Amino acid sequence: MEDWTARETNGWRPGELPPGWPATEDSDLSPADSLEQAQHSDGSQSEMTDGPQTRYRVRGGNQLHGTVFVQGAKNAALKMIAASLLAEKGRTVLRNVPVIEDVRRAVELAQAVGAVVKFHEAERTLVVDASELTSSVLPAEIARRFRASVLFVPALLHRLGEATIEGIGGCNLGSRNLDFHYRGFARLGARVDEQEDRIHITAGHMRGAHLYLDTPSHTGTENLIMAASLAPGTTVIDNCALEPEVLDVIAFLSKMGARISGGGTGFVTVQGVGELTAVEHTVMADRIDAAVFAMAAATAGGEVTLVGASLDDFGVVRWKLEQMGVEFATHGAVLQVRRDRQLRPINVITSPFPGFATDLQSPIMAVSCLAEGTSYIRETIFDGRYMLVGELNKMGAKVEIDGSAVLVHGPSALRGADVIAHDLRTGIALVLAGLAAEGETVISPGYLIDRGHASVASRLATLGADVTAEISD
Ligand code: EPU
Repeated sequence: MEDWTARETNGWRPGELPPGWPATEDSDLSPADSLEQAQHSDGSQSEMTDGPQTRYRVRGGNQLHGTVFVQGAKNAALKMIAASLLAEKGRTVLRNVPVIEDVRRAVELAQAVGAVVKFHEAERTLVVDASELTSSVLPAEIARRFRASVLFVPALLHRLGEATIEGIGGCNLGSRNLDFHYRGFARLGARVDEQEDRIHITAGHMRGAHLYLDTPSHTGTENLIMAASLAPGTTVIDNCALEPEVLDVIAFLSKMGARISGGGTGFVTVQGVGELTAVEHTVMADRIDAAVFAMAAATAGGEVTLVGASLDDFGVVRWKLEQMGVEFATHGAVLQVRRDRQLRPINVITSPFPGFATDLQSPIMAVSCLAEGTSYIRETIFDGRYMLVGELNKMGAKVEIDGSAVLVHGPSALRGADVIAHDLRTGIALVLAGLAAEGETVISPGYLIDRGHASVASRLATLGADVTAEISD
């Protein structure tokens, strides 16, 4: 008889993982840290950069007019970079890869384990040759600042038989656990061994299993699909995420030869295959980036054309912006956004797709400051995502935390101030607020914005905004 208890945990007991496993404060990085040697436990070394320390300067008051190009989706590209390491032969070509700091970190991580990766930034094209992986260690110097590091575990397990994560990181979003990932690896037959300063996972005899996610984790779904793709037998993942990026990752893996069905239904089935091959894929447009530019038009007023944006991918965000008085017109894959009237207040409760995206909760809070009346915003996905409140109030907004929700009393005459980007989405929301503020808003650290949005200053400037990015001291 099968030892199902051992199979369930394989040495790892749920709850043993440190809750919120060393949270990262990317903003702690100093310029002196900008080039470090990451020492692996096997003695080899890899270089890690943090990217330039920048700040954004926004002088508000200009309406926006013109055309902007939506970047490729961060939250699809990162998964695809990791997935490309599943291919033992050939070169993967990823197109429309956003030129952002998180992609550069993912490239460095792939290089740290031996993949040959070239990011042709001008062409937004990434070429990955993973035919020789040389290290199973995801070094702390990179991994603890970059939460998506855990996405490299499936490739290391299948290619090298083991993976060690020396740390794990991400945005500063309160407690964000990875237990679904580790529990899923264990259910698939891996042995997950938590040590003091690292997690060591050995593949053992991985095989298909029935997996259930307590909540439809976006990255958890993608990671377990990757792990199951090369595990013999059938894996069923119950309560999967429905985000469009998950479907794009499934499309990429399917091109590679994976057998995956049920994407977008919440119930995915994966039939393990013997090998995956290197392919070419164009990353979908970034729905968060598109919605941020739509919200830029909402805050500044005017009319902008978004090349590559899909309203279908906005989910509830579309209806909420329309309720506020923002107008959309779709022309195939080109979206026009206009705001020429007083904004109305809004009620927003974040939820998994197609609900209101948590990544747009901060930006909509900034937009709400301009609406006539009181808006209600409640975050349900991540705690610690109300750091924007204090920053908006520095700019003259009237925002209050009311229990688990936020009330925004508008309209406010925003004025420029020195404000702090606590994470990527807080940072871009402050850029939006700055567009509508009188005077100059200085947002730092800009690095956090650069983690997820490409060429923010130049794209907004193309629309007529007065935004500059500068290297900070
Ligand atoms: N959760 C667990 N255990 C897990 C996984 C998740 O408890 O093992 C909880 C989290 O703590 C959180 C909730 O489930 O409360 C949802 O987390 P999820 O796993 O869905 O988030 P994620 O996959 O880690 C991705 C995006 C985030 C985005 C969320 C929600 C990537 C690399 N990141 O994170 O993007 O906010 O989905 O859509 O895909 C961003 O782009 O700024 C960003 C943070």
